[in-house]
Amino acid sequence: MTTFTEQTRERAREIIARYPADRSRSALLPLLHLVQSEEGYVSPAGVEFCADVLGLNKAQVGAVATFYTMYKRRPTGDYLVSVCTNTMCNVLGGQEVYDTLAEHLGVGHDETTADGKVTLEHAECLAACDYGPVMTVNYDFFDGVDPQAALGVVEELRSGGRPMPTRGARLCTLKEMAVQLAGFADEREGAVADGGPGEPTLRGLRLAEQHGISVPGYDPNTPIRSKAEADAAAARAKAAEQAKPAPATTANGSTAPDVKAPDAKSPEVRAAETRQPDARTAVPDAPGTRIPADPTPPTPRDAREAEAAGVAANAPAGDGKPAGDEAGAQERSLKEAQK
Ligand code: FES
Repeated sequence: MTTFTEQTRERAREIIARYPADRSRSALLPLLHLVQSEEGYVSPAGVEFCADVLGLNKAQVGAVATFYTMYKRRPTGDYLVSVCTNTMCNVLGGQEVYDTLAEHLGVGHDETTADGKVTLEHAECLAACDYGPVMTVNYDFFDGVDPQAALGVVEELRSGGRPMPTRGARLCTLKEMAVQLAGFADEREGAVADGGPGEPTLRGLRLAEQHGISVPGYDPNTPIRSKAEADAAAARAKAAEQAKPAPATTANGSTAPDVKAPDAKSPEVRAAETRQPDARTAVPDAPGTRIPADPTPPTPRDAREAEAAGVAANAPAGDGKPAGDEAGAQERSLKEAQK
């Protein structure tokens, strides 16, 4: 069983401190990345570590770790190669890229090469459809790949190289990436890349401009800035605001303007806001339901007592499978998965 390093423990304390004291379980997602940064996957020891530091039980942590595909439940290669085979990439050749890599590496989905370097997986939409077909290595993008380009990337990785992705800094290992995903600064040169959107992303906007299509109130000449440019513009605007002379005081001592500020929102937005119900808006009961006018609030219960009552009321199914938190169940499952 792994004993996590003092650095990991220190980082865990730092992560938990980011959240309000009574909301510490919100730290679970970055903590899972953190344990993955040490072991390369979320092991039973990692699950136990997260449960211990957050006061959860292992079933609760396991439920989260098994829900998200970014948390790996078995040892994973230094480089996780994800090929998008979803609709847009697929019609552009994504499946061919995946099949070529699978045949060349001799592995299938979620399998790792014998040298431990590369884990291959097919991915659902990687949110870069405008650059399809895309693949990522440890979540850094290679845009518009074809089978030959993809083979070149994995061969460079297997020979110890760290190729440059299309965007961002030179590739790092999955463990290094997990540190970033846990919310710690990436010190690599150029790691925090910046820049405006590429032309494929702006294609729809350009077409709209050509055809004179825009939503009411939208100025098509609005500059599209990188984050650095936007931050600089915001800083200039703030400095200009602060440099303005203080407004003259009126006879009654007020500095407030006497005129009513114009309503800058468009009539469409105003109408939408008016239609949008909130918690105070009276709405009719849905058919077949009746919400009591004065519901009795539930009695607060101790979370552990409530959980124990839930466990007692939900006996394991009769298929012989252990309940989620039974000691050793995850270890056994993992060993079986590794056979
Ligand atoms: S379909 Fe491949 S990135 Fe969206």
